[in-house]
Amino acid sequence: MVRVGILVGSLRRESFSKKIAANVAELFPNGFETSFVEIGNLPLYNQDFDDDHDVPAEMTAFRNKMKEIDAVLFVTPEYNRSIPAVLKNALDVGSRPYGSSVWDGKPAAIISQSPGNISGFGANHHLRQPLVFLNMPVLQQPEAYLANSADLLNENGEITNEGTIQFLQTFVDAFVDLIKRYQA
Ligand code: FNR
Repeated sequence: MVRVGILVGSLRRESFSKKIAANVAELFPNGFETSFVEIGNLPLYNQDFDDDHDVPAEMTAFRNKMKEIDAVLFVTPEYNRSIPAVLKNALDVGSRPYGSSVWDGKPAAIISQSPGNISGFGANHHLRQPLVFLNMPVLQQPEAYLANSADLLNENGEITNEGTIQFLQTFVDAFVDLIKRYQA
C-alpha cells in the first residue's frame, strides 16, 4: 500500500482547499491510501527545539506520522501572493533536526486554489521553491491551478463539474505515475 499524506494550507472550518482535497483523495486508485495530516496544531518552529529535549509532543507526532508517508499532496490557498504560514511552518518542522528531514526524496504534487481568478499561482510557485531544497520531486505536468473555487463546490462540498473532475483525475494519474517511478 502506498501512503499519500494530504497537507492542506488552510485551517478554516469551511476551507475550499480542504473540500477540494477531499474530492481529490477519492480519485486515487487501489493500492493508494490517502490521509489528511494535521498541521494546525504545530507550534511555531524554533531552532532551540533541535538543541534541547523539550520538543513539543505535536512536533514529534507530526514527524512520526510523516515518516510513514510515501508521497505528499499539497492543497493550498494563496495568502498575500504566497503560501500560508501554517504550511511553511509544517515544512520547517518536518525539515529538522538537521539530517532527519521527513521530506527527503518523497514525491509531491501541488494544487492551488482561489475563489478569485488568479487561482493561487503565486502560492503554487512559492511552494515549489522549498520543495526543491527539501529534495522532493514535484509533479511538473499537469499543473493544477483552480480558480473560482467556491463555484466548483456544491452545498455538500462536492465537485460536480465533469471537466474539472476529469482534469483532477488526469492530475492524480500523473502523480501516481510519478510516485511509482520513485517506488521502484
Ligand atoms: C487571502 N486570499 C487571497 N486570495 C488570492 O487569490 N490571493 C491572495 O494573495 C490572497 N491573500 C489572502 C490573504 C489572507 C491573509 C487571507 C485570509 C485570504 C483569499 C483566499 O483565497 C480565500 O480566503 C480562500 O477562501 C482561502 O482558502 P480556503 O480557506 O477556502 O481554503
